Amino acid sequence: MATSAPRIAPSEAYGSQAGHYEQRTGAFRYWRELLVGKLPARRGDTVLDVGCGTGLCLPLLQRKVGASGMIVGIDESEQMLRVAAERVAEHGWDNVRLLAAPVAGAPIERTADAALFCAVHDVLQSPAALDHIFAHLHPGAPVAAAGGKWPAPWLWPLQTWVAALHAPFVNDFTGFDRPWRLLAELVTDLRIHQLAFSTGYLALGHARGR
Ligand SMILES: C[S@@+](CC[C@H](N)C(=O)[O-])C[C@H]1O[C@@H](n2cnc3c(N)ncnc32)[C@H](O)[C@@H]1O
Repeated sequence: MATSAPRIAPSEAYGSQAGHYEQRTGAFRYWRELLVGKLPARRGDTVLDVGCGTGLCLPLLQRKVGASGMIVGIDESEQMLRVAAERVAEHGWDNVRLLAAPVAGAPIERTADAALFCAVHDVLQSPAALDHIFAHLHPGAPVAAAGGKWPAPWLWPLQTWVAALHAPFVNDFTGFDRPWRLLAELVTDLRIHQLAFSTGYLALGHARGR
């Protein structure tokens, strides 16, 4: 679907403006908390925070896995990861590993118990990225994803607003009607919940055995 909304290139949002990312995405806080709250990760688990950005999900994940768990944050933007690293240092967390790499080639050193995909549309559209993540998940590992999507056809007037809202954070809107399409092939029991008048979604399920 084409969109004519004005765009800020994602490279700009994740580059020089990485420090402002948190202010710019403050409106999504409720959805982020909902998403992490729905991920059934437990104490001691290792969780992959895929496209972790500045690490806004890290405090929420820490509450789940505790000091005995581990969080592996993966992001290709060094500027975003720098902010995440500051957050890790501020909290004195020694159970977070930050991998500066494209998801598809990230040097993940262990098989994880759960994976989180928060507002990472471009990652969810990449078969190579998803294959790599699912190759590092135990069969049956819980998976949770959330983000924006095109509204249902009868809410079409919202499309321009949705495009403007997400344009700074999305490279390519291909697949924005069903962002979980590729995930559905890798997850046994994918359940989709439409959020915010169908302009967002929450996807939950468990990794298929490989
Ligand atoms: C909208 S931000 C979301 C950040 C974080 N998950 C959050 O909830 O705030 C998307 C992030 O995904 C990262 N990203 C996008 N495609 C990627 C890829 N192929 N490999 C690694 N990181 C990627 C971007 O650098 C950016 O930090």
